[in-house]
Amino acid sequence: MEKQTLFFLFASVFCAAVEGEVGTHYYVSKAMHWNDAQTHCRKYYTDLSCVNDQKDMEKILKAAERQTSPKWNIAWIGLYRDPSNATRWKWSGGGYVTYTNWATGQPNNYFNRENRGRTFQNGKWNDDNENFRFPFFCIKISELKHEKKTWEEALEHCREEHSDLISIASETDRLLAQTEMQRNNLTEHVWIGLRFLADQWLWVDGETMVYKAWPEGGDEDHQCPTWRRCGALTVEGLWGNYNCEEKRYFLCR
Ligand SMILES: *[C@@H]1O[C@H](CO)[C@@H](O)[C@H](O)[C@H]1NC(C)=O
Ligand SMILES: *[C@@H]1O[C@H](CO)[C@@H](O)[C@H](O)[C@H]1NC(C)=O
Repeated sequence: MEKQTLFFLFASVFCAAVEGEVGTHYYVSKAMHWNDAQTHCRKYYTDLSCVNDQKDMEKILKAAERQTSPKWNIAWIGLYRDPSNATRWKWSGGGYVTYTNWATGQPNNYFNRENRGRTFQNGKWNDDNENFRFPFFCIKISELKHEKKTWEEALEHCREEHSDLISIASETDRLLAQTEMQRNNLTEHVWIGLRFLADQWLWVDGETMVYKAWPEGGDEDHQCPTWRRCGALTVEGLWGNYNCEEKRYFLCR
């Protein structure tokens, strides 16, 4: 069988999927080196899975819960040690690690050779050697909708599919969403679930707004928008406020 076909087989057969806030986590049961797992995730999904909070960690583990092997959830996630600062960790999809879930005594950088991160059976994290092979978790950021709609129509469209426009909870989510735009060669801004209502910006799915990514300086119209009251992710990967009646592509979660 051709290599291409083989890859397609494990992309489609050995996976279970669980939805998160900005995307869906998938478990890939084929054991690989961390770098190969990253290549695989980038090819068939968006990237290796990242974790913003405890809720995300539970969703990731859930993606593998039907597995029967006792070691199923000893699996790579997108964690890697910052090459320029050994005490700091980053996500494969971009951005620094903010929430952590290390097991007791980890990361210990055993023999100074552990620069990648994986889960233990209980979902706690351990640093490990990139040259070991483990199954892994990938995240696919929600599909870009290739139809242009006003912000309200886009929201309605997502909700008809029992979904919602995406909310972006971290730097890593933002960078992953931008990666998905680039993968689609998009050269224009896309609607996300950001809306100015009752004098404040909020996420329409009810997520609390903690992380913000407005551009610095320049146009400060978002602080008190008169009519540009709907939010988009810009080509530059930041938030922009626009007229809700403009028709744009959009991202459902
Ligand atoms: C390395 O990262 C740690 C943790 O984020 C930080 O406290 C420290 O200042 C950094 N060191 C350097 C040299 O940047
Ligand atoms: C984006 O552009 C690249 C290079 O021109 C092309 O190979 C790829 O198929 C395009 N992707 C999409 C989704 O159109």
